[in-house]
Amino acid sequence: MDVFITGRIPDQVIERIKRQHSVTSNLTDKPLSRDELLDQIGGYQGLLCTITDRVDSELLDRADTLKMIANYGVGYDNIDVVQATRRSIPVSNTPGVLTDATADLAMALILGTGRRLVAGDIKVRRGDFKFWAPMHFLGTEISGKTLGLIGFGRIGRAVAKRAAGFNMPIIYHTRQPLASADEKEFNVAYRPLKRLLQEADYLSLHVPLTDETRHLIDAAALRKMKPSAILINTSRGAVVDEKALVAALKKGIIQAAGLDVYEKEPELTPGLIDLENVTLLPHVGSATIETRTRMADMAVDNLLAGLAGRKPPNCLNWEGLPGNE
Ligand code: 8YV
Repeated sequence: MDVFITGRIPDQVIERIKRQHSVTSNLTDKPLSRDELLDQIGGYQGLLCTITDRVDSELLDRADTLKMIANYGVGYDNIDVVQATRRSIPVSNTPGVLTDATADLAMALILGTGRRLVAGDIKVRRGDFKFWAPMHFLGTEISGKTLGLIGFGRIGRAVAKRAAGFNMPIIYHTRQPLASADEKEFNVAYRPLKRLLQEADYLSLHVPLTDETRHLIDAAALRKMKPSAILINTSRGAVVDEKALVAALKKGIIQAAGLDVYEKEPELTPGLIDLENVTLLPHVGSATIETRTRMADMAVDNLLAGLAGRKPPNCLNWEGLPGNE
């Protein structure tokens, strides 16, 4: 069968597909534009895509020979799974393998934003480190500060484990509070959203992007937070109303933000890069050699299973597919 890979992934992983199928891939790191993707997508049975590829009904109509869509990533808001299901196409993602890398990055943003790591680095490089002074370049303590987690799935839990080592009391919010045994295991306490926003010194987001979570952190939510609070986002940019965030950071409604993801990635809301109280990263939550290789292997396991007519190990819609309901 014919497989289309929309971005460069490790060669040894592509070789695994080539043993059974023929592969066409974008060999560059530059994502295909929407028009390029629409032009090129026809005639394939397998698609291995990434977050930058919008797989919606327009694309699926052009890709009418597709038998399997393997997303390279755990978040799959780029794919209209309902439309794929209607067309009998299994869709898979890559859960679990990027949990630690993403949790590490959330922790790095907590530490880096709280202690103003990047701003400090820039100051030294500019030659502005002229003298030491007791009140210079003060940041926010980590130890003893309350960490609020919105979302407590795999990544949220992995952040909680790390934060416990930094002596942070942890509160969390999810749709369904955990069983009390689980709360004890992670040493976390449930809070309704409003209270979580009011109590958190650091607020870290670990929810998928859905209709329910889009702009969960809007102007009203930001106003509930402490003026000293720091917002960390390694989930999806659109969980935060970025325009409202820029305004809140400018006005001192919250103190700072550490962001790995953006609402209209890679575009940034005007004003964001002018702020000194933000740490900005280029969506690198899972960007380690080890994790990206594991993600590629997992995506290929899914792809090969789907093309062989078997249930992909990380299928998102198997039960809903016609004939499997
Ligand atoms: C990936 C991510 O790099 O897995 C996810 O959901 O956000 C990132 O870790 C990205 O999705 C690649 O497609």
